[in-house]
Amino acid sequence: MSAAMSADRQPTSEAIRNAVTLRTMTPENLDAVMAIEQTAYSHPWSRGNFQDSLNPLFEAQCLWLGDELMGYFLAMHGFKEMHLLNITVAPARRGQGWAHMMLDALSLISRQQGAQWLWLEVRQSNARALQVYERYGFARISVRKDYYPADRQQREHAVVMSLKL
Ligand SMILES: CC(C)(COP(=O)(O)OP(=O)(O)OC[C@H]1O[C@@H](n2cnc3c(N)ncnc32)[C@H](O)[C@@H]1OP(=O)(O)O)[C@@H](O)C(=O)NCCC(=O)NCCS
Repeated sequence: MSAAMSADRQPTSEAIRNAVTLRTMTPENLDAVMAIEQTAYSHPWSRGNFQDSLNPLFEAQCLWLGDELMGYFLAMHGFKEMHLLNITVAPARRGQGWAHMMLDALSLISRQQGAQWLWLEVRQSNARALQVYERYGFARISVRKDYYPADRQQREHAVVMSLKL
């Protein structure tokens, strides 16, 4: 880690790391999820998008420190693969390893359920997420043109990435 990158990071203490819990996302969690979601994206998911995903076709988990929601992820089951649709860390908790921890959890859950690959799409402009995924081991596979809505009626390309589990 470079000195410049570490300057704004608070090391995550072992105590906090041991105190966090990962629990299945429930409808009761959606106020807290939406509060983070709306600050995190130019085009956030709606509450209905989350509600529609709280069923066995999806893997939706929340990362908690006590009653503080640190982050969440939502993935869709496929045949021998899992498709990560949303992974978000609360702004105040970024750069402390929580996305890595959730990717570890998703990898474990996916392997336990017979998946061999993780897939995701990410906005081409989302340099931070691209870096996190590449450092985690995801490879860039292709680009989906005009996949995402963008500002001023524009569209944005998605980078398709995969990870062999
Ligand atoms: C992208 C996003 C999920 C990353 O979450 P994050 O928790 O900040 O990511 P991590 O902390 O796990 O990884 C970031 C860095 O912290 C480092 N890190 C890991 N453990 C650490 C620790 N204990 N202490 C300090 N830093 C640590 C990681 O090495 C990584 O650095 P690197 O990228 O230079 O290798 C987050 O920025 C976010 O929610 N963004 C908005 C939503 C979004 O864009 N989601 C992705 C959509 S595709």
